[in-house]
Amino acid sequence: MAYNNTKHTKSRYDLAAPIYDLAEWPMEKLWFRKWRPEIWKKAEGPKVLEIAIGTGKNIPYYPDDIEVTGIDISPKMLKRARNHVEKNNIDQVSLKEMDAQQLGFNDNIFDSAVATFAFCSIPDPVKGLQEALRVTKPGGSLHLLEHMLSKKPSLAWIMKKLDTPIHYIAGVHIARNTVANVEKAGWEIYSVKELSSNGIFRFIDARKPG
Ligand SMILES: C[S@@+](CC[C@H](N)C(=O)[O-])C[C@H]1O[C@@H](n2cnc3c(N)ncnc32)[C@H](O)[C@@H]1O
Repeated sequence: MAYNNTKHTKSRYDLAAPIYDLAEWPMEKLWFRKWRPEIWKKAEGPKVLEIAIGTGKNIPYYPDDIEVTGIDISPKMLKRARNHVEKNNIDQVSLKEMDAQQLGFNDNIFDSAVATFAFCSIPDPVKGLQEALRVTKPGGSLHLLEHMLSKKPSLAWIMKKLDTPIHYIAGVHIARNTVANVEKAGWEIYSVKELSSNGIFRFIDARKPG
């Protein structure tokens, strides 16, 4: 059977779902927890799309005045997000199983799109970013928190070598040029903020022309 990258990625996250939060906990505690509220302060409402919501780690940081549609391709990751929503009686988010490369929404309906650590995993990131552009209103915004290829040549060389095996094991790519991908998809970038000296972790903020 021919290799299907989307199926592979979905199966890897389905497999990882039960231990995902535990496995990420050290990084969450060290870094991610302080970056997540920052990105959500920038989300422009009322209608916000969260791409690849995963187990719902961003939900505690949603500002009160937005309504969020959260999508993910992995039903097992989504189940954990759903449990969180139900346990905490949260009514500002609706969850949908959906492929970010083929969004089932009309054009120009969201005020902004937000994603954290998503475009490292979405198999065709440019397609996913084009879809985000399509469903965002003209003048609407995109806010990303992502890890990507290091700007340090020696580290970038190692990351490129490890990209294929890590993708096979965990479904994630560690050597993506996410800033270039955002531009390729047609977004106008207005800010890139490096969060680590090696350039791996960054905030990217962009706007849909128009
Ligand atoms: C590294 S996790 C990040 C989850 C969450 N955003 C967070 O910050 O913890 C990547 C997520 O991307 C999802 N994903 C991968 N490919 C996707 C696709 N084509 N469409 C939607 N979600 C996808 C995975 O199921 C997984 O939940």
